Amino acid sequence: MQNSSALIQKLRETRNLTDAEFRLLLIDDSCHEILAQNADAVRREHYGTDVYLRGLIEFTNYCKNDCLYCGIRKSNRNAVRYRLTREDILECCKEGYALGFRTFVLQGGEDPYFTDDRICDIISMIHLQYSDCAITLSIGEKSYESYQAYFQAGANRYLLRHETADIAHYAKLHPAGMSCDNRKNCLFQLREIGYQVGAGMMIGAPYQTLDHLIEDLRFLQELNPQMIGIGPFLSHKDTPFRNFHNGDLESVLKLLGILRLMFPKVLLPATTALGTLHPEGRELGLQMGANVIMPNLSPMSVRKKYMLYDNKICTGDESAQQYHALAKRVESAGYQVVMARGDAKGFETK
Ligand code: 5AD
Repeated sequence: MQNSSALIQKLRETRNLTDAEFRLLLIDDSCHEILAQNADAVRREHYGTDVYLRGLIEFTNYCKNDCLYCGIRKSNRNAVRYRLTREDILECCKEGYALGFRTFVLQGGEDPYFTDDRICDIISMIHLQYSDCAITLSIGEKSYESYQAYFQAGANRYLLRHETADIAHYAKLHPAGMSCDNRKNCLFQLREIGYQVGAGMMIGAPYQTLDHLIEDLRFLQELNPQMIGIGPFLSHKDTPFRNFHNGDLESVLKLLGILRLMFPKVLLPATTALGTLHPEGRELGLQMGANVIMPNLSPMSVRKKYMLYDNKICTGDESAQQYHALAKRVESAGYQVVMARGDAKGFETK
């Protein structure tokens, strides 16, 4: 049997392993240190100690979907719904810009109120007023024409986690009517249009197996996205998955390290979910190859309403307004926040 340090070396050199080798690495719980050393060395080769910040604007928690894991699913009658106006959103950008942010991420549920015209209008306004900033969308599955219209209006990047690449597993996490194939198609369309694309999955999602994770890695190899967002599954009390265990810290860190070695130049956020799971989750993520943090720039009054999972952190150091405190934490982990657009290497546009 190959030992993990030989597997990690092979992964670093060839960016790939066989399924059997991935399985061995995923079940070995003693390789944290050696994986972290290698992942950190690879991130430093391409990104030095830079950690890019994104200002996250959660502009609507209305959603027409009913994903079984998600706290803002349509059937959750306890969710208090809100929408930001165009002016609210522009105000967030203004505040973010003054703080130094140069990427804005517009994230929301799939809210039919926000028609393509409304979305394009918002994008154009941001693009006009903050032409040196990148605009990232995270608003779900849309048609090719819609994606094209947003791109033409000035959006540059799109985050759409595939959630799981396995068709049967996908069907256990989502209601009938949503499909794994459509989600994957959306990602390929976004890439074709010219977006920098982000995919990703929840680690420790209900019914997830090691084989599913390996399928996720294979799908990511096929898509070759510029960004990969992963975090632990965290249960939400008002969803059908309320009684499932949360994903565990070491599994998320393991996957971050593996992803950094497979995709040396990828943008890899240390996610809010990781920071919610463990007080030092994001610092540990950075030390395992992550190089992006997405502080919350939404108005304080709505933050507690965008509860995708229980106890989501939203008013402490992950708040954009507290980014000096965040910067200190990043420094104490050995890195530095950089207030720049932070495109993926090889994709520096405009
Ligand atoms: N736990 C962890 N992540 C979640 N997301 C949604 N619900 C949960 C949850 N309960 C993630 C999904 C989605 C992203 C915006 O948030 O992966 O794509």
